[in-house]
Amino acid sequence: MLPVLADTREAEMDKLFIEGGRPLRGSVRISGAKNAALPLMTATLLAPGKHVLRNVPDLRDTRTLLKVMEEFGVTSEWEDDVLYIDSTELKHFEASYDLVRTMRASVLVLGPLVARLGRARVSRPGGCAIGDRPINLHLMGLEQLGATCLQENGYVDVKVDGRLRGNVIHFDIPSVTGTENLLMAATLAAGTTILKNAAREPEIGNLVDMLVGMGAQIEGRDTDELIVHGVEQLSPADCVIIPDRIEAGTYLIAIAATGGQGRVTHCKPEHLPALLNKLRAAGLIIEEGEDSIAISFSEGKGVADLECVDIKTMPYPGYATDLQAQFMTLMSLASGSSVINETIFENRFMHVAELERMNANIKIKGSSAVVTGKGRDGLVGAPVMATDLRASSSLVIAGLAASGITEIRRIYHLERGYEKLIDKLTGLGAKVWKESY
Ligand code: UD1
Repeated sequence: MLPVLADTREAEMDKLFIEGGRPLRGSVRISGAKNAALPLMTATLLAPGKHVLRNVPDLRDTRTLLKVMEEFGVTSEWEDDVLYIDSTELKHFEASYDLVRTMRASVLVLGPLVARLGRARVSRPGGCAIGDRPINLHLMGLEQLGATCLQENGYVDVKVDGRLRGNVIHFDIPSVTGTENLLMAATLAAGTTILKNAAREPEIGNLVDMLVGMGAQIEGRDTDELIVHGVEQLSPADCVIIPDRIEAGTYLIAIAATGGQGRVTHCKPEHLPALLNKLRAAGLIIEEGEDSIAISFSEGKGVADLECVDIKTMPYPGYATDLQAQFMTLMSLASGSSVINETIFENRFMHVAELERMNANIKIKGSSAVVTGKGRDGLVGAPVMATDLRASSSLVIAGLAASGITEIRRIYHLERGYEKLIDKLTGLGAKVWKESY
């Protein structure tokens, strides 16, 4: 197996080409959620034994996390979208720089390792394209559960003598992975832990369900206060990963941006309340089924008739920051101006300069971007550079909607989070292909 470093360098040479201007039509099946798969995979570290995770997306990020966990002694096997993880023996507790630097969610191993082994040593994730992204809330919480956290030579070394001890922990900001890390740690702590101002993204509900299935005692699912009564041990899990709401949202926006009509299937419409409201406000017809969402334009209407809609990113159930860049592309195609306010990450407008290369008109003012839609002039294909996962998908959508050919570099970002992207887009009628150099 190639080391991740070489793997990433190879992928940096790959380019995605899109011949735009074709309305997407048909249906697309949504995969399991990356952001649920990652914490659920690390939760298998809590209990020795053979775990089964179903509906797991085969992505660069899930593969990277498996490599991190293999360093601890975990073994795994895929069978289609079912992932078998054997965490019977953990021989090491260190996650190395080479792996962690490619995926900051590796920090999710901290809570489970400390809870089970009393020790974890994880390379500090650096900043990334969308901002500084500290882990102070994760470490503060672990300290409040009785651990000591030392930072040296770029590593965080977390230790506890005996068991972690329950406590009341208040998050200044409702961090998603912070909530997940501390939730997992608290399941094996002595006594009760209360997580206040916790994040309540659906992926956390999925993790709660898995942990409860393993024998954890947790109250307050889907609320901002999680109460965890620690138990002495947990048993192996058999759990299904929820559908990827960000992937579903991305395809809905792509269909809209190309003036198409289609349906995303195997998803949960109730996990996308804010996006569906915004798409309706933009003039699209949205029909929610039990596990599918259909999107279309009214008779005689098209992309240039889209209404301009403002968005402000917020913790769930507000508008997701992971769908901000994609909506910006959609608004670049509308007629008139819209304001996009990013409140979660300080530097999440890296896609703006690339979209401008495709003829978009966007002005950044602090944490807001004012998008003046091009209406019937539309976007024009160009060579562009992907900077992070969701920014990349906004460029794909722009390429699908633009006239001419768009060439996207650094597509390893896309491969981190979109399973079978080329196949799925081709199935919707897009002309898209990858070339390796
Ligand atoms: C998760 C998601 C990511 C999504 C983000 C926000 C995963 C694997 N990733 O990332 O796709 O964009 O939620 O919905 O689920 N913060 C601190 N200190 C901390 C932790 C966070 O100040 O210790 C701040 C961050 O800088 C940010 C805010 O809290 O401003 C929210 O970040 P957080 O929810 O932690 O994002 P992640 O969990 O990293």
